Amino acid sequence: MERSLMLIKPDAVTRGLSGAILSRVEASGLKMTALKMLHVSPELAASHYAAHQEKPFFPGLIAYITSAPVVAAIFEGDGAVGRIRALMGPTNPTQAEPGTIRHDFGIDIERNAVHGSDSAETAEKEVKLFFDEQEFVHYNRAD
Ligand code: RTP
Ligand code: MG
Repeated sequence: MERSLMLIKPDAVTRGLSGAILSRVEASGLKMTALKMLHVSPELAASHYAAHQEKPFFPGLIAYITSAPVVAAIFEGDGAVGRIRALMGPTNPTQAEPGTIRHDFGIDIERNAVHGSDSAETAEKEVKLFFDEQEFVHYNRAD
C-alpha cells in the first residue's frame, strides 16, 4: 500500500489550522497510520530538504521549517502520494485553485501550509526519516 508523508508546516500550526488540514485528508478517504507533533531540528531539516541544498532559498527554508512545531502524518492508500499533492495544490499558493489546501490556507511560496511527498520513492525515504516502524498503528477504516 502506498504511503505518503504530510507535514503541516509552522505557518499553519501556529495559526491553529492543523485540524482543518488533517480533516481534509481524512475526508478524502486516505487512512492516517501515524501522527505526531515535533520541532524539526536543523539536522532533520537539512536531510528532508537535501535536494534543495544548492538553491538560493535553502537557508530561509531551513530557518522557516525549524521556527515552530510541525505536525507530521503518514497517510496510506492507493495513489496516496498523488492524491495528497492534488489536495495540496501547487507550491505557490497564489497559483493554487480554490479548494486546495495551499490556496485556502497558504500565505506565500514559503509559508505554504503543507508538505507532501512528491513520489512514491521519495515518500518511503521521508516516512523513514520522520517515523520508526513502531510508531505506526494498524487498523481498517470503517468505510
Ligand atoms: P514541499 O516539498 O514543501 O512539499 O513543496 P513542493 O514539493 O511543492 O516544492 P519544492 O520544490 O520541493 O520546494 C520545497 C519548499 O521550498 C520552498 N520554496 N521556496 N522561494 C522560492 O522560490 C521557493 N521555492 C520553493 C517552499 O516552501 C517549498 O514548499
Ligand atoms: Mg517538495
